[in-house]
Amino acid sequence: MALHRRRDGGKRPIRFWRRRFALTIFSLSLLSLIYVSFFGVNFPFRGLHHAQVNQGTTTIEIVKRKWRYAHDHLATNIYNYGKVKDSHFVVDEGFHSSTTFPKLNLHYNNERKASHRRTDGDTPTMMSLNKNKWKSDLAKPSKSKSRKRHLPCEVDFKETIDDLVEPESYMNYTKFSLSYVTKEEKSDENFLFEPRFGGHQTLEEREASYFARNQTLHCGFVKGPDGYPSSGFDLNERDRAYMATCRVVVSSCIFGSSDFLRRPTSKMIGTFSKSNVCFVMFLDELTMKKLSSEGQVPDDQGNIGLWRIVLVKNLPYIDMRRTGKVPKFLSHRLFPSARYSIWLDSKLRLQTDPMVILEYFLWRKRSEYAISNHYDRHCVWEEVLQNKRLNKYSHIAIDEQFQFYQSDGLIKFNESDEDAPLPSYVPEGSFIVRAHTPMSNLFSCLWFNEVDRFTSRDQLSFAYTFLKLRRMNPGKQFALNMFKDCERRAIAKLFHHRVETSPSPPAF
Ligand SMILES: *[C@@H]1O[C@H](CO)[C@@H](O)[C@H](O)[C@H]1NC(C)=O
Ligand SMILES: *[C@@H]1O[C@H](CO)[C@@H](O)[C@H](O)[C@H]1NC(C)=O
Ligand SMILES: *[C@@H]1O[C@H](CO)[C@@H](O)[C@H](O)[C@H]1NC(C)=O
Repeated sequence: MALHRRRDGGKRPIRFWRRRFALTIFSLSLLSLIYVSFFGVNFPFRGLHHAQVNQGTTTIEIVKRKWRYAHDHLATNIYNYGKVKDSHFVVDEGFHSSTTFPKLNLHYNNERKASHRRTDGDTPTMMSLNKNKWKSDLAKPSKSKSRKRHLPCEVDFKETIDDLVEPESYMNYTKFSLSYVTKEEKSDENFLFEPRFGGHQTLEEREASYFARNQTLHCGFVKGPDGYPSSGFDLNERDRAYMATCRVVVSSCIFGSSDFLRRPTSKMIGTFSKSNVCFVMFLDELTMKKLSSEGQVPDDQGNIGLWRIVLVKNLPYIDMRRTGKVPKFLSHRLFPSARYSIWLDSKLRLQTDPMVILEYFLWRKRSEYAISNHYDRHCVWEEVLQNKRLNKYSHIAIDEQFQFYQSDGLIKFNESDEDAPLPSYVPEGSFIVRAHTPMSNLFSCLWFNEVDRFTSRDQLSFAYTFLKLRRMNPGKQFALNMFKDCERRAIAKLFHHRVETSPSPPAF
């Protein structure tokens, strides 16, 4: 808060800010050091979902709360929420069960459909991703890592969306019906019950949830019994109603004022998309306030530029990164009528038309889920080391997750294996394109549940989740298109997050 610019024009000498910044960093490091050496426990974020750290709580308070949590729950097995095992689930069938994948009404140019059917072989199914392309990519030695330039690559997008038509049945998707646990009741002996946004899934339920079949599973938005406080991610009715109308969605979020609001490059977005695609930006109250103070205020429709601003109250997790996974992974829950969704990290500015993106990443490749690989790392083992090296998360929690995954069959990525199930085991998840098919929705829920149960570092759980889903459903297709990081760079401009920039950034 000390970083607000002053009214007199902010002419304090640079040196002042530098010193101030250095001091802040130093105190923060010191505090974390004390905390880690003192408590040395898992960062038990999951017990703290109702704490509003984003409203000016100090580090000391967080430490205290963690300590209290660790104290209360020392005996809890983090893997298994056995305590609510006997409670019954109330399932809201109506919310979104997805046997159907109704046709998108792109009401234009149907007569030109035939000329745009692709018959070439460049269409990865679940296992036949175009390996040769990947090989040449992977073969390049990655030297001089520190200052390597990562450039966008040439992407053969459609020039215009005028002749774009959703293929009749481009995809032979696996059909089953998902419904979601929306409420958990408390059992009598379970007096410590606390509603959790992710619910209290047992390990047995987790195992069963991996089967691609009609089922009811945990997938966020789990409420407690009547009379209990909300488990979080509260939206107002007007926004909900709007979101329920969306068929194609581009969404993003900023929580904890961690970034600037980057509007999609308007001249690159076609008129069809401007009137038919929902562009939704989720913000928390802190970010909203910060943006307002910088003159970015939603208009009467609730928009800032193309973004429709949706305010999220009562964040479900104390960890902003984990909270960010809610809109990132659960777009099929937030937008129950949506057929397609595109996720953008707030560090990206969209500069490609969403319909062109769907055509290129999904329709042309006949895929139902598209995500890029990491520009540098392909093996989860490397990713674990890197996460620890940069202290991205408690080492103990990372090890716990990693060991669990190894004991459940996670193996190293083998670059020379021609039949590798994925071109890389480490994703760059800042840009995800999805058709809301049952398999795609199931994968999103499973991945979210891993992030809810273990660390919020989703790169650690991606390959495990995908491989386990595949292993448990032989013969059932999940068409995942893992594309190259340079293609991601072609559709969106990359910026640094706000926290990584200078303390007094220019407004724009
Ligand atoms: C669709 O998938 C089913 C089972 O996954 C398979 O038997 C069938 O041949 C596929 N059809 C086409 C046209 O690919
Ligand atoms: C799965 O659910 C769908 C629709 O809800 C139903 O038509 C189908 O018969 C169910 N399949 C099984 C195996 O129960
Ligand atoms: C990697 O794959 C190659 C080719 O399939 C195989 O010969 C080799 O044994 C594999 N390496 C490991 C460590 O599994």
